[in-house]
Amino acid sequence: MSIAIVPGSFDPMTLGHRALVEQALEHYDQVIVAVMNNADKTYLFDMNTRLMIARRTVEDLPAVRVLCDEGLLVDLYRRTGADAVCKGYRNDADYAYECRMAEWNRAHEPTFRTVLLKAGERYPTLSSTEVRSMLKKGETPSGLVHPAAIPLILSKGGEA
Ligand code: PNS
Repeated sequence: MSIAIVPGSFDPMTLGHRALVEQALEHYDQVIVAVMNNADKTYLFDMNTRLMIARRTVEDLPAVRVLCDEGLLVDLYRRTGADAVCKGYRNDADYAYECRMAEWNRAHEPTFRTVLLKAGERYPTLSSTEVRSMLKKGETPSGLVHPAAIPLILSKGGEA
């Protein structure tokens, strides 16, 4: 049974993130979506809300489980016995950033394997930032996030 972790801030999880999970499922039997913290970011949604939004976004995918973790990704990788971490990239800047992260993680855990997957044709540039900026303008991010997650996103992020 092969396992991939798809980690991220997911503030909030978008349909682009879901497409990445679906891509990972083409290569691995099980996917763990890990809602984590990036020390350089402040979040609109608290961790528990990010977790619930992510759960609603992938709840129909049986081979996917969603958890949150406030620790290091290398520790989660060791604990879960994952075979790889899958991250998405949309452009050169994303790719360069993800390569730096991959190097950092590999320096701390030599078995750490990062697989970078190019964002698909459907959501080539979609970002959580775009969703948050719509919320700030009082708009509903329909088509950018999963319909099942919209009530939660509006109730917790509507005051953005
Ligand atoms: O969606 P993001 O913000 O690009 O996700 C980044 C994330 C959360 C995956 C990354 O910051 C991370 O791995 N956080 C967990 C803590 C950790 O391991 N930090 C060391 C890597 S610099």
